[in-house]
Amino acid sequence: MVSRRITDLEYAIRDVAVVANEVAKSGRKVYHLNIGDPVKYDFKTPKYISQALANATFKGQNFYVDSLGVYELREEISKHENHKNKLTITADDVLITSGVTEGILFVIAGLIEKNKEILIPGPSYPVYINYAKFFDGIPVEYELDESNDWDPNIDDLRKKVTDKTQAILLASPNNPTGVVYSSKKIKEIIDIAGEYDLPVISDEIYDQIIYEKEFTCPASLSKDVPIIGMNGFSKAHLATGWRIGYLYYHDPEDKLNELKEGLQKMARARLCANSIAQFAAIEALKNPGHHTDDMVKKLKERRDYSYKRLRQIEGISCIKPEGAFYLFPKIDFNEYTQWKNDKEFIIDLVRKTGICGVYGSGFGNYGKDHIRLTFLPDLEILETVYNLLEDFLK
Ligand SMILES: Cc1ncc(COP(=O)(O)O)c(C=O)c1O
Repeated sequence: MVSRRITDLEYAIRDVAVVANEVAKSGRKVYHLNIGDPVKYDFKTPKYISQALANATFKGQNFYVDSLGVYELREEISKHENHKNKLTITADDVLITSGVTEGILFVIAGLIEKNKEILIPGPSYPVYINYAKFFDGIPVEYELDESNDWDPNIDDLRKKVTDKTQAILLASPNNPTGVVYSSKKIKEIIDIAGEYDLPVISDEIYDQIIYEKEFTCPASLSKDVPIIGMNGFSKAHLATGWRIGYLYYHDPEDKLNELKEGLQKMARARLCANSIAQFAAIEALKNPGHHTDDMVKKLKERRDYSYKRLRQIEGISCIKPEGAFYLFPKIDFNEYTQWKNDKEFIIDLVRKTGICGVYGSGFGNYGKDHIRLTFLPDLEILETVYNLLEDFLK
């Protein structure tokens, strides 16, 4: 009765929540380290941005807006990108979406033909895999190499380009590994894309949540290869539930005109993104405030604490994340461990301790034997969590 499209959909991050809810119902406290939503913890949407949203609704800006997005917001975004990343885009190169998630849907829908391939990092955000399959395409994972601090394995990527490949996607900082790609690696990926005449899709949602390294914007390194960048207001501006994101096109040789036109049609078909949140987003860009810096400072402390604790636990190894807010430790499964795989581990963990993480295989084949834990909770909660995890593994 229902289509394969929906029966095949999987989303490990929310699937685990179903088991966690059962555990909570039984009366045990659940520690939600599964969802990457800072606003659920002690990071709150800045008041001046919320005020701007309230003003917009009281001013009566509750109507459908332009399908491509409010022009003033598109202009502010182009200025912001040009300033931050030394690009030369205009408002016409920006399309407002309902979060980066809708941006991913649009771009994959716009580029993937049946049984054609899209190269995505492995492990990575499950939505890429989901939408590639949803549109009858084939997601092909190129390796992020754990033995090399999760750096993209360029030889592996190159080997996986075929005559069916339609795009290369990169996400730096990456979810779930936290790796921030170096400029050198990004350039190598762009060069491969150029060689095979492929567009690059760049998910930049964590560009401002970086600890030691600098963010390199792929478009800033590309002279001719077309890049579709994606970013939004969920993470850096602490407005996850508002669902505002955007796509921008860096297209020095006008290779994306057809895609741009097609995505405009898609945008019209779904009317528009949330109107009042767009007016508030203008305010967030015009008066950036210091909430992002404050958040990064707090997160760095939480990362350092979590990383230190994890490293002290026998049977676990972990690379220190350079960006985003996830740890992606590897569990040493062997003949002495009672769990067969990461999924069994995560389900047993939440049942016995209340710690709710996500199994690594939910992030693609390269994620297996790992678990993902956010370090968004405060230090007191993290201390309890790591004490529980330590006992659990004993
Ligand atoms: C890599 C990545 N891209 C996009 C998103 C979703 O962003 P948005 O809230 O803008 O849809 C997430 C959310 O966790 C993410 O990890």
